[in-house]
Formats: sequence, structure tokens, C-alpha cells
Amino acid sequence: MENLEKESAVAQEYLARVAKEAEAKFDEHLPPENETPCRLHEAMRYSMFAGGKRLRPALVKATFDMFGGKGDKVWLATSALEMLHTFSLIHDDLPCIDNDDYRRGKLTNHKKFGESTAVMAGDALCVLAFELMGRAGDARAIQVLAHLLGTYGMIGGEMTDIECEGKTVDLETVDYIHYHKTAALIEAALQVGAMLAGADDKSITAIRNYGRSIGLAFQIVDDILDIVSTTEELGKDAGSDIEKGKATYPSIVGLEKSRERAHELYEESLKALEGLEGDTSILRSIAAFIITRVK
Ligand code: IPE
Ligand code: IPE
Ligand code: MG
Ligand code: MG
Ligand code: MG
Repeated sequence: MENLEKESAVAQEYLARVAKEAEAKFDEHLPPENETPCRLHEAMRYSMFAGGKRLRPALVKATFDMFGGKGDKVWLATSALEMLHTFSLIHDDLPCIDNDDYRRGKLTNHKKFGESTAVMAGDALCVLAFELMGRAGDARAIQVLAHLLGTYGMIGGEMTDIECEGKTVDLETVDYIHYHKTAALIEAALQVGAMLAGADDKSITAIRNYGRSIGLAFQIVDDILDIVSTTEELGKDAGSDIEKGKATYPSIVGLEKSRERAHELYEESLKALEGLEGDTSILRSIAAFIITRVK
């Protein structure tokens, strides 16, 4: 455990470092608030700059560097991934989906700007993300990203998540939801970084397996924190899952088994990295952070 904490501290330092640079680029890539339609641009910026761990940009940067990527195009992808993630959060919080009031320590986008603006702010972030990816200029990375965002990825997971609300479901269904709504975008971030750097197919498969394991672990920990943490600590509505009868890991196997599963997935993620050339130390630290994080 002590070692995990040490690894996690390394990851947190890395996240903070990437966040600083990535956020400066968000500002460059987002439309200005004083440009029409001002309210829409204000809403996009509000959620993008509300904070957040910036995990997906860090994953893009980590694999880009690991596979020897050169140049500035990586920052187009870090912005794109955080925009897509923020789009997913804005829509996830809507009254017709999870109906939550707080996100990243602030009012949710629809609470602050109203539902119609929140829907469009999410849409506009999604579309802008693909414009930026177009500028980064790798057709295969765009295709992978679109696939893992759409019905075979995040959106498919979100759809099943709401369909299962209030129902008794099995673990296989929860795995489906979690792999899709959360792991898919994490896998996408890792793959996009690797592809922009020109990594070979074997490496990309390894990176993808790592992402699948840490992605599922990430959502299991999210489910656990929803129960054991507070709204103040999380910056988003704690207890939201039980209130809505969500299909979560703890609701099916309990807290202890959920924690055990997260640890198993951590081990699996490290296995996936074995055999990769290059320095995998940041990815190993990030995996440790994911299973020990408190928010
Ligand atoms: C929250 O993601 C949504 C899930 C996929 C569980 P994060 O926990 O990464 O949210 P931020 O970006 O730090 O706010
Ligand atoms: C959401 O899962 C994953 C997304 C695609 C946004 P949750 O609904 O559990 O995420 P939080 O807890 O609201 O961040
Ligand atoms: Mg949700
Ligand atoms: Mg939610
Ligand atoms: Mg949650």
C-alpha cells in the first residue's frame, strides 16, 4: 500500500504538470467569450475551466512521449480529449440523465446556464474536439476516437447506464456499462497519443489492454467514492448512484469485493505494459493513482 501511495504521488505531480500546459492550450483552442454566441462560449469555458484531474490529457501526453512523438500536435489532442470528456460530463449531469447539481466543485452547466445552453455547450465541445483532431492530421486516430466515443463506446455505455436504472442487473451488464461509458475514452486517449507518435500495432494493442484495465478500475473507484465520500470532497453529488438505483459495482458485489476487483485490474494493467519498449513508469504510476485516488 505504501508503495502505491508513493507511485500515486508521482502520478499526481505528473498530472499537475501536464494540466498546466494543457490548460494554456485549452484557452487558445476555445472560442473567446466576447465572440458571438457569447453565452455558448461562456458555458463551454465554464465547464472546461472548472477544474478536474485532467487525466485524459495526461494519458495522451504520456503515450505520445513514450513512443517518441515530436512536435506540438499533441496539444491539439490533449485539448480534444478533455473537450470530449467535458462534453460527456455536461450531458451526463443533465436532468434527463443523472440530474446532478454539482460538478468539479461548481454548479453543473445546466444549473448555471439552463438546459438548452448546456446541451449545446456539450455539442459544441464535441464538434470542436474533432476539428482539433483534424488539425493534428492522423485519420486513424480520428477514427479510433470517434468509434470509442460513439455507440460502440462512451455513448453506448451511457445509454445502457440509463436503461438499467432501477433494475436488477448482473455483473456482466455492469462491466459492459463501465467498459463503454468510461474505459472507452481512457483507451482512446492512450491510443491517440500513441498513434500521433507513430507507435506500431503491437504497442498500440498493449496500450489498449492497459487502458481497458485502468478504465474499468477508474469507474469502479468512481462507484465506490460515490458511496464512501462526500459532495464537498468529490466536488460532485455524492450518493447520486443509490438515489437513482444505478447499476454499479458496489450495488452488485459490495464495497470490499469492488476494492479487490480494482486491485486485480491494477495488476492486470501492469501486465499489459510488460513487453513494451520504452519507459512505462508514468503509466504504472497513473494506474496506482487510479486505484488509490480519493476524488
Ligand atoms: C468523471 O471523470 C466521470 C467518470 C468517467 C467517472 P473524472 O473523475 O475524470 O472527472 P474530472 O475530469 O476529474 O472532473
Ligand atoms: C459517467 O459515469 C461516465 C461518463 C461518461 C460521464 P457517472 O455518471 O458515474 O459519472 P459521475 O459520477 O457523474 O462523474
Ligand atoms: Mg452517469
Ligand atoms: Mg453522473
Ligand atoms: Mg459516478
